[in-house]
Amino acid sequence: MKRIIVAIDGYSSCGKSTIAKALAKYAGYTYVDTGAMYRAIALYTLRHALTEEPAIVAALPSIQVGFIQVDGAQHVTLNGEDVESQIRTLEAGNRASMISQIKEVRAFLVAQQQKMGEDKGIVMDGRDIGTVVFPKAELKLFLTASPEVRAQRRFDELVAKGEHPKYEDVLADVNDRDYRDTHRAESPLRQAEDAIVVDNSHLTPDEQMNVIYDYFNRFQ
Ligand code: DC
Repeated sequence: MKRIIVAIDGYSSCGKSTIAKALAKYAGYTYVDTGAMYRAIALYTLRHALTEEPAIVAALPSIQVGFIQVDGAQHVTLNGEDVESQIRTLEAGNRASMISQIKEVRAFLVAQQQKMGEDKGIVMDGRDIGTVVFPKAELKLFLTASPEVRAQRRFDELVAKGEHPKYEDVLADVNDRDYRDTHRAESPLRQAEDAIVVDNSHLTPDEQMNVIYDYFNRFQ
């Protein structure tokens, strides 16, 4: 069977990681959540109170981001420490959106991501995978859903984790993050010309996965 690179891009909270994980399992491929890598660097800057760009850039050589498997799930590591739960907060997400605007941070992570894809057989999700990391990926998917649907999903996730957010705050956060992700100077979120757009606002998870498996199987 031909092994390919699948690039999945899209807005925050549109289900990219759920889809990418399911597709990786279906295909027997490696899954890489690049948002988790930006969040791990964000967590480092929060812990060390680094706010200025030069200080963040200077810290990059001291930061190692990796992945480990824990009970069949992928966890991100920061200098060897499992930080999976610490990176999934609103604060770390917002900081990730900010530090991801720094050119050197992007170059640092993009080089690692490209290395991970050398042997193909990978499903990677993020914002710039089909445009910058793997512009030659065989299958590029661009996921969208309305801001309200995405805010509700993120709200439900945060509540499930024991947080007590207000829906209005989560929606404002989704809109702010969309704006920053699409307007930054460095590798803004945009759809690659050859990407397939999947709007999942009104698709059930099963309907959506069937659409995606179908696209994937065209390469087999
Ligand atoms: O997908 P996520 O919410 O975990 O991503 C967190 C932030 O990281 C998001 O606001 C934008 C940034 N990001 C990026 O700039 N490029 C990527 N490939 C992945 C994430």
